[in-house]
Amino acid sequence: MVGLQGAGKSTWVARHLTGTHVVVSKDHWPRARRREVRQQRLVAELLAAGRSVVVDNTNPSPAERAPLVAAARAAGVPVRAVWLDTPPELSLARNEARAEPERVPPVGVLATRARFVPPSAEEGFDRVDVVR
Ligand SMILES: Nc1ncnc2c1ncn2[C@@H]1O[C@H](COP(=O)(O)OP(=O)(O)O)[C@@H](O)[C@H]1O
Ligand SMILES: [Mg+2]
Repeated sequence: MVGLQGAGKSTWVARHLTGTHVVVSKDHWPRARRREVRQQRLVAELLAAGRSVVVDNTNPSPAERAPLVAAARAAGVPVRAVWLDTPPELSLARNEARAEPERVPPVGVLATRARFVPPSAEEGFDRVDVVR
């Protein structure tokens, strides 16, 4: 998944991938150490066990997405980016309307927007879907 905080990623996952995919997200362990390493290990283990996996994070730039593309390649499975292309103002408003702990400070949404690069097939995705 790709999209700002409040863009609608988790809602989309619940609607479309529940029942077929294991949902992995660093948000599931906000206080853990080395969350990135832990997430990558978990994704690799699930793929090795033959499960389909969805990574429900903001994944705003190629740097965050590259290890996930690599994990899919290593497991020999196709990899897709689903970009929730929600206008930043709407993501900000939806984030504000949420309750803790899902709500993040607005500066967090703006920081993600500042780093954001749309996902592209050139990164190694077999498919890029844009949800508006
Ligand atoms: N398609 C949609 N239309 C309107 N509101 C939505 C839509 N998808 C999600 N929302 C609402 O927006 C907020 C953020 O959605 P969420 O799925 O938690 O976003 P994310 O996982 O990207 O942070 C929630 O309050 C959710 O109910
Ligand atoms: Mg979410």
